[in-house]
Amino acid sequence: MTKKAWGGRFTNDSISWVDDFNASIHFDKVLIEEDIKGSIAHGDMLKTKGILTEDEFKKIEAGLKEILEEYQKGQITFSIEREDIHMNIEALLIEKIGPIGGKLHTARSRNDQVATDMHLYVKREVIDIISTIEYLQGTIVELAESNIEVLMPGYTHLQRAQPILFSHHILVYFWMLERDKARFKDALKRIDISPLGAGAISGTTFDIDRHQTQKALDFNDIYHNSMDAVSDRDYIVETLSNISLTMVHLSRLSEELIFWSTDEANFITLSDAFTTGSSMMPQKKNPDMAELIRGKSGRTSGYLMSMLMLLKGLPLTYNKDMQEDKEGLFDAVKTIKGALKIMDGMLSTMSVNKDVLEEAVSNDFSNATELADYLVEKEIPFRDAHEIVGKLVLTCINRGIYLKDLPFEEYKKASSVIENDIYDILSAKVSVNRRISYGSTGTEAVKVQLKLARERIT
Ligand code: ARG
Repeated sequence: MTKKAWGGRFTNDSISWVDDFNASIHFDKVLIEEDIKGSIAHGDMLKTKGILTEDEFKKIEAGLKEILEEYQKGQITFSIEREDIHMNIEALLIEKIGPIGGKLHTARSRNDQVATDMHLYVKREVIDIISTIEYLQGTIVELAESNIEVLMPGYTHLQRAQPILFSHHILVYFWMLERDKARFKDALKRIDISPLGAGAISGTTFDIDRHQTQKALDFNDIYHNSMDAVSDRDYIVETLSNISLTMVHLSRLSEELIFWSTDEANFITLSDAFTTGSSMMPQKKNPDMAELIRGKSGRTSGYLMSMLMLLKGLPLTYNKDMQEDKEGLFDAVKTIKGALKIMDGMLSTMSVNKDVLEEAVSNDFSNATELADYLVEKEIPFRDAHEIVGKLVLTCINRGIYLKDLPFEEYKKASSVIENDIYDILSAKVSVNRRISYGSTGTEAVKVQLKLARERIT
C-alpha cells in the first residue's frame, strides 16, 4: 500500500478498484514533458523569489530531468495509487532526491499544474495541426495545378448540374482548410495563456512571480483571475470544435473520393497503398482509408459534445469531472493528425481519369443552362428560355440522345433565334470557359484563384 500524498487526513487504506476508477495516469502520462517543463519553470521562479535555495532548486531540476530521461528509456512504471502524472512525478522525485522534492509543490496546486500542462499540450498540438493542414493544402494546390485542363461534371443534389474544372472542385477543399487553419490560429490566442501560480483557487500567500513563469513557459498571456485560470476549459472546447469541423471537411472530401472511385463513376483511381482488398471477393479494391476518415469524423464530434456536456453544470472552480477533459481530446488530436496525413497520401497518389471525365461531361445534360443562356443573349427572357430548353431536354430523353445530337431543324422549331453556332456552345469546354465571373470555374478565373491559394501557403 503506497501512502497517499494527502495521507495525513485519512485513516483507512484506499481500495484498489476505487483507486483504479479515480486514476488518470493511464492517459495523462502523455503530459509528462509538459509537467516537467512546468515544474522546472515553477521551481526556478521559487528560487528567484528566495522560496527555494539555489541548491534545492538544482537538486529538484536535476531530479526531474532524470525522471524524464528514465521515462523515455522505458525505465519508469507509474502507479495507479499515485493517481495521476503530477503525483507520480512528485513521488518519484522524492524517492530520488529525498524530502526536498516535496518543496516543489510550494505555492502550487494540481489545479493550476494540470491546467498549465494542458495549455502547453494543446498549444503544441494545435501548432502541429496547423502545419499539417497547410501541408495538405499544398498537395491540393498541386493537384489543381497539374489537372488545370481537366473537366468534370459538377453536381447539385448529386445530379449532374453544370460542367466544371476538376481544379475548381478540388480547390473548394483548399478554402475549407484555409478557414480551419484560421480558426485554429485564432484559438491560439485563448490557448496560449498561463494559469500557473493560480494555486488551487485563490492564488497564494507566497510572494511568487507569475509573470516569470509565464515568460519561462513562453506563454503569450496570463490569466488575470486565479479562479478563471483553474476553471477555464473553453480552449479545449474550441480545439475540439475546430478539430470536429476540420474532420467534417475531410469527411466530405472522403465521401467524394469514395463516389469518384466507384465503378459507376470511375473518375479517379486511388493508389493501392490507400485501399484494401476483400477477404472473399477477389475483384474488390475498397476505399477503406477514405471511409475511415468519414467514420472517425463522428468520433471527434462526439468528443466535442461530451466536453460541452461535461462543463455545463460545473460550479467554479476545479471539479474532478474536469479530469474527463483529456481522453477525448488526446484521441481527437491523434485522429485528426492521422486523417490529415492519410488524406494527403490519398490525394498525392491517386490518378485522375481524364478520359472518363471528358466522356462524362460530353454525355449528359449539364450544358442545358448554357443553351438557356444562349437564348437569353438573343433577347429571350430567361424564364421562357428555361421552358424552351426544358422541352428540348425532354425530346432528347424520349429519343435517347443528348442536346448535341439533336438535329438543327429541331432547334429552329423550338426557337427561331437559334443559329447553327449552337453546337459550339454545347461543348463542355466552351461552356466552362464562357464562365468569366470572378470566382467562377472558367480556366482564367481558376488560374486567378490558384495564384491566391499559392500565396496563402507560402
Ligand atoms: N488528474 C487531475 C485532472 O486531470 C489533476 C487535478 C487534480 N486536482 C484535484 N484537486 N484533485 O484533472
